[in-house]
Amino acid sequence: MATVDYNNASLTDNLPIMTEDVKRIEDVLSLTKSDMQLVNQHLLQQLNSEVVLINQIGHYIINNGGKRLRPVIMMLLAKALQYPGQQHINLAAVVEMIHTATLLHDDVVDESDMRRGEKTSHEIWGNAASVLVGDFLYSKSFRMMVTADSMEVMSVMAKATNTISEGEVQQLLSIGNQSLSESDYHQIIANKTAKLFAAACELIAIIAKVSTKHRQQLTHYGLLLGSAFQIADDMLDYTADDDALGKNIGDDFNEGKLTLPLIYLLEHGTEQQKQTVKNALNNPADIDFMSLRQWINASGATQYTLQQAQLKAQQAAQCLSMLPDSQAKQALLFLCDYTWQRNK
Ligand code: IPE
Ligand code: IPE
Ligand code: MG
Ligand code: MG
Repeated sequence: MATVDYNNASLTDNLPIMTEDVKRIEDVLSLTKSDMQLVNQHLLQQLNSEVVLINQIGHYIINNGGKRLRPVIMMLLAKALQYPGQQHINLAAVVEMIHTATLLHDDVVDESDMRRGEKTSHEIWGNAASVLVGDFLYSKSFRMMVTADSMEVMSVMAKATNTISEGEVQQLLSIGNQSLSESDYHQIIANKTAKLFAAACELIAIIAKVSTKHRQQLTHYGLLLGSAFQIADDMLDYTADDDALGKNIGDDFNEGKLTLPLIYLLEHGTEQQKQTVKNALNNPADIDFMSLRQWINASGATQYTLQQAQLKAQQAAQCLSMLPDSQAKQALLFLCDYTWQRNK
């Protein structure tokens, strides 16, 4: 594979050439296309290792796609802030690598067998290999981060990765907990998911040298968008189509994970529904998932969950008020809608 010197890549190649408004996800992708090519090349180049299994698993999961949402947000923010350098490419690869490491670990913990439309890595190579290659990606991302030569960058990512781990452990401890509150749920998703979105935005704010106030607002955008994103993901785990989602639906219930749709049903369902769900939490095979899916819909849980995701997304949009008008800003605003309206 040809190596890409992202330090010498020219940002001027990537200036938006579209003049229309950003209205569709395709517009967002076209706006970030050339930057994202650099991010992908850099990611693949950094994956190379003399250890064959690392190459195999790393390339398998990275090449199977994924939405690359966090790097796309970073490219847009860099554009919106008119960041003149190249470090955003490296840092976006860092964030995507950390995200990928968490997925490798998460699929082992969640016993999920499908990811990005393919078998999960642990289904092919086993749990030990997946966990160890996840560790490789984590540590590799820190080596890449060092090249930014910024203690602030290191500090943000050290805190973020630590918080993500905390979130995953909090979630593990909540498995099967019938009385998990909405506020506990929001805390868990903020830690395990939103924190990485927040850090991704903060990194761009740091390298673009914005004021402390603007840095806080942009970090908050990431935090709220990340929460909206996870709430939508938790809804899709009940309502989506497996093929479109690229993951198996029902995984959350099958492992006794209480997410917002189920928390709502346990509050607002009929007595019989509540009792059946509680009994089945430790024994998911006792419940027919299609019936559960229907209860979730009929009880208003789907609608409530969507509203909560939308609310977070709207609050995220408000955090962008300081950005000057640009297509990149429009795209960042568009992503607020996309986050809760998506079907994959
Ligand atoms: C999956 O994230 C994990 C969650 C935080 C819900 P994505 O939905 O961004 O996964 P990919 O990268 O597109 O596969
Ligand atoms: C997100 O939670 C996991 C991480 C933040 C790593 P989920 O367990 O819901 O993610 P998916 O559904 O497996 O992608
Ligand atoms: Mg999972
Ligand atoms: Mg999920």
